[in-house]
Amino acid sequence: MSNTLATRGRISLTRYLIERERSADGQAPLPPALRLLIEVVARACKQIAYEVGKGALGGVLGEAGTGNVQGEAQKKLDVIANEMLLEANEWGGHLAAMASEEMATVFPIPEHYPRGEYLLLFDPLDGSSNIDVNVSIGTIFSVLRCADGVAPGEDAFLQTGDQQVAAGYAVYGPQTQLVLTVGQGVAVFTLDRETHSWILTDDHVQIPADTQEFAINMSNRRHWDAPVTRYIDELLAGKTGPLAKDFNMRWVAAMVSDVHRILTRGGIFMYPRDAREPEKPGKLRLLYEANPMSFIVEQAGGAATDGRTRILDLEPTKLHQRVAVFLGSKNEVQRVSGYHR
Ligand code: F6P
Repeated sequence: MSNTLATRGRISLTRYLIERERSADGQAPLPPALRLLIEVVARACKQIAYEVGKGALGGVLGEAGTGNVQGEAQKKLDVIANEMLLEANEWGGHLAAMASEEMATVFPIPEHYPRGEYLLLFDPLDGSSNIDVNVSIGTIFSVLRCADGVAPGEDAFLQTGDQQVAAGYAVYGPQTQLVLTVGQGVAVFTLDRETHSWILTDDHVQIPADTQEFAINMSNRRHWDAPVTRYIDELLAGKTGPLAKDFNMRWVAAMVSDVHRILTRGGIFMYPRDAREPEKPGKLRLLYEANPMSFIVEQAGGAATDGRTRILDLEPTKLHQRVAVFLGSKNEVQRVSGYHR
């Protein structure tokens, strides 16, 4: 990561967004309603960070005893984070509807609240198998526009990732950070735990085009398709193999944390389609995970594909659609995508 704006004193999230509203550098100015919406999401992430931080002292660990639409057991913090995002965003007047990885269908803005022009999608707590073991987890979000006169039902959310107007994530780790793009590069804010504000700590995130680090769940190797097995075998062959360099492997098992490492120092993240559930094209969700992360990664100079197609070009057909994901340092994403063709 490198800095320009971040060296000019302490810049809060609000000030950063207001500077984007006044955009003088030829970029489309950020609409004030979108700024306010992002601020509400960021505030909810702050609240979630405090809940996460309570751990066993706050009674927030363990299973909720419920299942989500994907048939996965929900953790208490999955449910708490989902509620916090809904409550924070339902009354502000910026949204027409919300959709969450944890809910079967869309959440329309209640009639007694004003309705706005945006749609918010989120994965309230990504990597939730890490919660109880105190390893970094996060919240991912994506913002779309709801076209005039369109009812904010499920179909309104089925837009290509290219149409996102903002995307971001918060990572709850040793530091709590918010990573954001409004289509003008990627900025990182660190939560100042003394003043409770998001402070800009990097406004020019760049993913190096080359890397010697990869992230994949190796235990699934026997289920992969041939192009993925070929690529991973080449990475493992190191200096003596066709790529002629050694690679290191890291896998946190929370997409937020693995992508955050890649934004920080490069790398390639992969969750390929595999043979365990042949009817599903991958594990990760297109609208809640792959699209927002791909928007961020591309804005930082990286690339993201499903092996064949740029993720941001994929036409979604359902809200909880899954997809294979290869993202990060451009040259490696291009190499493994080339093996699929
Ligand atoms: O959303 C699913 C998720 O938790 C991602 O955050 C993460 O990258 C992946 O699943 C981990 O999968 P696995 O449990 O197979 O390692």
